[in-house]
Amino acid sequence: MAVRPIGIIMNGVTGRMGLNQHLVRSIVAIRDQGGIALPDGDLLVPDPILVGRSEAKLRAIAAAHGIARVSTDLDGCLANPADAIYFDATATSLHAGHVRRAIARGKHVYCEKPLATTTTEALELARLATSRGVKHGVVQDKLFLPGIRKLKRLVDSGFFGRVLSVRGEFGYWVFEGDWGGQPSQRPSWNYRKEEGGGIIADMFAHWRYLLDHTFGRVKAVQCLGATHIPERVDERGRRYAASADDAAYATFLLDGAAGGAGGDIIAQFNSSWAVRVYRDDLLQIQVDGILGSAVAGLRGCKTQHRVTTPRPVWNPDVPNPFDFYGQWEDVPDNGAFDNAFKVEWEMFLRHVAADTPFSHDFHEGAKGVQLAELALQSWAERRWVDVPSLETSPPDVGAQHAAPLHRHGVS
Ligand SMILES: NC(=O)c1ccc[n+]([C@@H]2O[C@H](COP(=O)([O-])OP(=O)(O)OC[C@H]3O[C@@H](n4cnc5c(N)ncnc54)[C@H](OP(=O)(O)O)[C@@H]3O)[C@@H](O)[C@H]2O)c1
Repeated sequence: MAVRPIGIIMNGVTGRMGLNQHLVRSIVAIRDQGGIALPDGDLLVPDPILVGRSEAKLRAIAAAHGIARVSTDLDGCLANPADAIYFDATATSLHAGHVRRAIARGKHVYCEKPLATTTTEALELARLATSRGVKHGVVQDKLFLPGIRKLKRLVDSGFFGRVLSVRGEFGYWVFEGDWGGQPSQRPSWNYRKEEGGGIIADMFAHWRYLLDHTFGRVKAVQCLGATHIPERVDERGRRYAASADDAAYATFLLDGAAGGAGGDIIAQFNSSWAVRVYRDDLLQIQVDGILGSAVAGLRGCKTQHRVTTPRPVWNPDVPNPFDFYGQWEDVPDNGAFDNAFKVEWEMFLRHVAADTPFSHDFHEGAKGVQLAELALQSWAERRWVDVPSLETSPPDVGAQHAAPLHRHGVS
């Protein structure tokens, strides 16, 4: 058994996601566990170089996690053939430019969602990566959450029979930053459209892969967005006008032919950074099917089968006699669940090093960007918008996708 290091250029690790989920809970955790086993028995061990614009921040993070290499010179890092992978968790509007430069240098590329700010740009990145023969992946972490995996287990087992509807409730209160000494929990660029902000651009990338992979392909969208909080205070205490949406109320039509056992599925998602939480989790999804229903959160999932469904009676003249929450059964863990980001990182690393299958590629990433773009169009035009298949349009993208990837060695 040989130990094989793999160099990873990590950009954006001074930010929330880059640091907590990608560096600490994924790459450092993989290194601390001794690496990941490859099909031939070798151990693949990440060797990150942290890149960014503040050397002081990078050095502090590197020191805290025993990482030797930092740099403020992205192009210099990309020119080093010893590092096989480029990873990007910078602010959304920067993804496409960075990723394009990394592809041009022949790096395998892994990128936070949304891959780009327009579908055209996302498809272009997919095309560039494919024609350059590099492996490409986009973060689709929600698929690997324990609650969503349990939901998928139920769909795959036929638990629901025909799925009728899916209702997602996502959100929490993001502090405005101007009272009670409570700074905002999210970066200010999230509330500026011109910097890639907005909850539709941010969250619909997630809803696309979650719905596509769990229930059925998203065929159409109808969306109403809102900017409920028009003014906020940024990281430096300055007031600014919010130019992007902070809530979205959307309905999707899904093709239920596969997971839903026939018929269209109606999915409704409320996404809001201006809502106070009275539910079990920050994301809660209820699925109702002919044979049973389920409610999933980030970790847990509860079911109610048709044969255990009580018969409620409407009677506001007496206090409610039902314990509705007590009428549901937990789906057991039946095993350990690792961090969702780490699970996908391990899959991508194996894909790069050993050519194992990986379906969360840039074409998938482009679908997320497409749904956000069409939802914004639906809001602007106050109408339903169909979601065309990206597999067939434009035609040259499908052709590129079918082409075999060249194998690249890893350092
Ligand atoms: N998968 C998920 O569940 C999930 C959740 C949240 C966010 N995200 C995605 O992750 C990405 C980052 O979000 P975040 O919330 O972590 O943002 P963040 O905390 O604001 O971090 C942004 C990062 O981008 C860097 N950056 C900002 N402006 C830059 C510039 N002009 N040039 C170079 N670097 C720059 C920052 O570096 P400095 O430290 O130098 O400013 C920082 O490292 C976004 O694309 C977002 O959509 C994904």
